[in-house]
Amino acid sequence: MKSKSKIILIFILFILGLSSQVVAQDDPSGDVEVFTWWTGGGEAHGLAGMIEAFSKIHPDINIVNATVAGGSGVNFKAVLVSRMLGGDPPDTFQVHAGQELNALWVAAGRMEPLNDLYEENGWFEQYPQGLIDLISDEEGNVYSVPVNIHRSNLMWYVPANLEAWGVTAPASWEEFVTTTCPTLQEAGIIPISLGQTWTQVHLWESVALGELGVEAYNGLWNGTTEWTSPEVVATFDRLGQIMDCANDDMNALSHQDALLMVTEGRAAFNVMGDWAVSLYTVDEGLEPGVGFAWVPSPGTDGVFMMLSDTFGLPKGGPNPEATRVWLSYLGSAEGQDIFNPLKGSLPANTTADINNPELYNAYFQAAYADWTSNTIVGSLAHGLVAPQSFLDGFYAIMAAFQSGRDSLTASSNAAVLALQTGMGR
Ligand code: GAL
Repeated sequence: MKSKSKIILIFILFILGLSSQVVAQDDPSGDVEVFTWWTGGGEAHGLAGMIEAFSKIHPDINIVNATVAGGSGVNFKAVLVSRMLGGDPPDTFQVHAGQELNALWVAAGRMEPLNDLYEENGWFEQYPQGLIDLISDEEGNVYSVPVNIHRSNLMWYVPANLEAWGVTAPASWEEFVTTTCPTLQEAGIIPISLGQTWTQVHLWESVALGELGVEAYNGLWNGTTEWTSPEVVATFDRLGQIMDCANDDMNALSHQDALLMVTEGRAAFNVMGDWAVSLYTVDEGLEPGVGFAWVPSPGTDGVFMMLSDTFGLPKGGPNPEATRVWLSYLGSAEGQDIFNPLKGSLPANTTADINNPELYNAYFQAAYADWTSNTIVGSLAHGLVAPQSFLDGFYAIMAAFQSGRDSLTASSNAAVLALQTGMGR
């Protein structure tokens, strides 16, 4: 009798164990921490929309929307490093496609390959090969899921204001500094608004692309353009001239502050990525082409400087099964059609409904036409072309340049930094 009840007990425990395994595999549950720097105006809407939709489909998975404020991840990245190295990785985190992912987290062996997720979801056929290459190692292991394509080289303005002030969007930086800027300064308008150091790096990359052209710009990242060449030194001279046309309090402003100076009529232009569309449409309620408009930053017509926000699965995260369910949604056309119209970016998944103008407004239609026809280059300020170690050093170079305006020192320090961080040589 005693041994019979023992057998029954073991059987019950076995069944219970089995069924809990079935539940765990088929229907993962629990918290999933999604770690990003998306807070504040124009930043958080896309993720909030996607979390809301996901939670209706998967009520047993609780997405914890964890953030560290600071545009382009300036504060977030340090917190991420200490968590990853301190044995406390989030379930998933925001990381740019390209060197920001590969040179640090993939190289350090900290990320799970996601090929099985790509196969299950058919993503090898649904994502552009060029984008997959940016998030893969040489053996073809893929390490993250891209949620979008953003464009960095854009100049924003308000059409009615330009008309009232008697200027047009400049076709070159030469035109901007010699004609547009003095005209606006005489009228008491700040010609171009600028924010804290990372936005200055963002402006510099657009200036460098415009002044150097595609081949020499790319050469900065593959080692064929000398940082100390007169052409590169001239990009800093040009940046200094543009800074002379900007607000004095730049170091105190966020990118949102600088973008709003344009729509408030205090500044004529701002160079920023297309997350501006989220700020202008969702927060400010403005209509694209009317309340605000855009052109490729001067000298970059026909070139699309890209970046992509992606999410990976760090090794040792608390809830990998549920995180895979979240990543599957984030990478799907359905998830991306919720996220991107609110975020200001194009869907990375090519089966998304980008041709639907009800969903994707006039900005996206124009951006998609450019994305599919322009020459594509990668962004420095947003992690694609250079490792984080280079970008961190470049922030310091930019801060020194902003206060001292010494182009030769900026160029030679960047040359040394490129050597130290293994950039293309
Ligand atoms: C970029 C990021 C964008 C946007 C922007 C401003 O690095 O890719 O999604 O958040 O920073 O914070």
